[in-house]
Amino acid sequence: MARKEFGPQPWLFPNPTVLVGTVIDGKPNFATFAGCGIAGDKPPTISIAVHRQRYTLKGIRQNKEFSVVIPSVNLIKEADYCGLVSGVRSDKVRDCGFTVFYGTLKSAPLIEQCPVNLECTLLKRFDVGVHDLVIGKIVQTYVSEECLTDGKPDIMKIKPIVFSMGSVPRYNAVGEYLGQGYHIGKELKK
Ligand SMILES: Cc1cc2nc3c(=O)[nH]c(=O)nc-3n(C[C@H](O)[C@H](O)[C@H](O)COP(=O)(O)O)c2cc1C
Repeated sequence: MARKEFGPQPWLFPNPTVLVGTVIDGKPNFATFAGCGIAGDKPPTISIAVHRQRYTLKGIRQNKEFSVVIPSVNLIKEADYCGLVSGVRSDKVRDCGFTVFYGTLKSAPLIEQCPVNLECTLLKRFDVGVHDLVIGKIVQTYVSEECLTDGKPDIMKIKPIVFSMGSVPRYNAVGEYLGQGYHIGKELKK
């Protein structure tokens, strides 16, 4: 297969599209992040790559708490908007019509309209070039009842927004079901 080299690129196909919530100077703010992943399982931890200029970083530094919120495809414009403007100059909660609620933490704002909300406390912060890699310890997970099947989260009901870089940054919906995880590969076992 012929291949083209692009040099070092942070291209993972796909990335999630999440909203990171913070409270900054007493006000909730949300910013869009695609640089987000699972850091570990025990304890459940999540990583976000936060550019040092982000207003969001101020909130994480102030309170050592933040949220990771998964919007559904119906909030695609709001999700993009939160990545286009900074909370320094705008009230994104008001502009997007988000209904904010709080769980166990005082400074990790959550969004009523979003199906999955994670509350995190700051575990560690690493300097990675122009970004801070922020590791959050997940202290509570909220999933909307209507996004459950047999009492468990169902990605086809959550309808997350898939983000990818490449020729043009783009959003996609989740595609077709391929098979059961930790199971379908058993067919290749000798
Ligand atoms: C799809 C998308 C993904 C983004 N991913 C990141 C990211 O991983 N890290 C980051 O620092 N900024 C990311 N941004 C940019 C921030 O969301 C943007 O600068 C935002 O205005 C920051 O808001 P704030 O200043 O209120 O913190 C992304 C933007 C978009 C649209």
